[in-house]
Amino acid sequence: MSNIQSLRGMKDILDKDSKLFTYFIDNCSKIAKKYGFNYLETPILEETALFKRSVGESSDIVSKEMYQFIDKGENDVCLRPEGTAGVVRMFVQNKLDRAGGTHRYFYHGPMFRYERPQKGRLREFHQFGCETFGETSVYEDANIILMICEMLNFFEIGFKLQLNSLGCKECMPIYRNDLIKYLETKELCADCDRRIATNPIRVLDCKNENCQEQLKNAPKITNNLCEFCDVDFEKIKTILDKNNISYEVDSNLVRGLDYYTKTAFEFVSDEIGAQSAIAGGGRYDRLVEFLGGRSTPAVGFAIGIQRLLELIKIKEQNEEILYIGAMCENAIDDVFKKVIQKRQTTKVITDYKVRGFGKHLNNAQKQGATTVALIGDNEIRDNTIWVKDLNSKKEQTIGFGDF
Ligand code: HAM
Repeated sequence: MSNIQSLRGMKDILDKDSKLFTYFIDNCSKIAKKYGFNYLETPILEETALFKRSVGESSDIVSKEMYQFIDKGENDVCLRPEGTAGVVRMFVQNKLDRAGGTHRYFYHGPMFRYERPQKGRLREFHQFGCETFGETSVYEDANIILMICEMLNFFEIGFKLQLNSLGCKECMPIYRNDLIKYLETKELCADCDRRIATNPIRVLDCKNENCQEQLKNAPKITNNLCEFCDVDFEKIKTILDKNNISYEVDSNLVRGLDYYTKTAFEFVSDEIGAQSAIAGGGRYDRLVEFLGGRSTPAVGFAIGIQRLLELIKIKEQNEEILYIGAMCENAIDDVFKKVIQKRQTTKVITDYKVRGFGKHLNNAQKQGATTVALIGDNEIRDNTIWVKDLNSKKEQTIGFGDF
């Protein structure tokens, strides 16, 4: 019988990756908290209808990529393909839409999409995301973009920002009709022919070369925004200019999820291969209402964590790590006592086995210790402990109680 392996596109996170993974989450969390976001968790499993209604039935995510099944209670459920829908469900379920004010949340966790796995594209992947509710001001869109820049700059990840406006419930339907009229005169791929009926703006980001060629003279949403959307779009560009954030307006950027209105953006990097999108987001002013809540403006984003891991280097933080070991059987109790005492203030690693001097030093170095403390027969006799600073190489024998 062959051994059981993890599923295709699903990976263990261990060793070097797990260090980078927690380093990434810890530092993004610190930055998000500075911007007023509070941590939140929502379930990984939700009713399928939640994603159909929010991400949209015509999207690839819902139509092709969901891990959907009927549970033992006959409920139609699925593993979340993204985080926003669950946060909005939580917001409405807890009647926060009636509480007024601004609410800011951040989250991180696994998402599931049944895609064809390749470098940077997994079936289980992790996102770090933020969502703001109750803020109409385009300054919040800019605030979120500035926060993502701060995160990527902290990790020294190079990026390009692509920006678009998808209009609102007034201007989008008019634009959509103009686009349909244009598309109906063109020869497009089978997928795009279907999209004309289900969600015509998704034709704009079709990867097929012929479709892109046919789209050259298509009407642009950015030239068809209503007065309000236009003012906001100009404003966000001005705020980004004033803050030295460079961006490129891409009027074909429609994003793969149906809930966006107005601002839509994507951060891309050319350092990570074909799957170049590292973060994406935008405004979704109608989603709370779609999911049964009171009309509430909202904006957010998510970063794909795995895509970034190989670009991150941990900045040394000069953390003190103490290694304590026993060199004879009757030193183990003292070692254990000292470990507990030192852990009050310091990170301590130990080994409960008796080992020789060289073996302990080796172990300590392998685990990144900065100081080694050992107790053997001589130290027990003299009630001392031998200590070496591995950076300065200074070593000394000190009274057990003085260390
Ligand atoms: P999204 O663009 O679908 O947006 O995903 C955000 C990020 O997740 C992507 O930029 C990418 O880095 C990562 N990602 C997506 N699919 C995969 C995959 N199969 N493997 C590895 N990484 C992947 C959303 O999910 C929205 N909920 C973002 C949002 C929040 N919009 C508003 N609020």
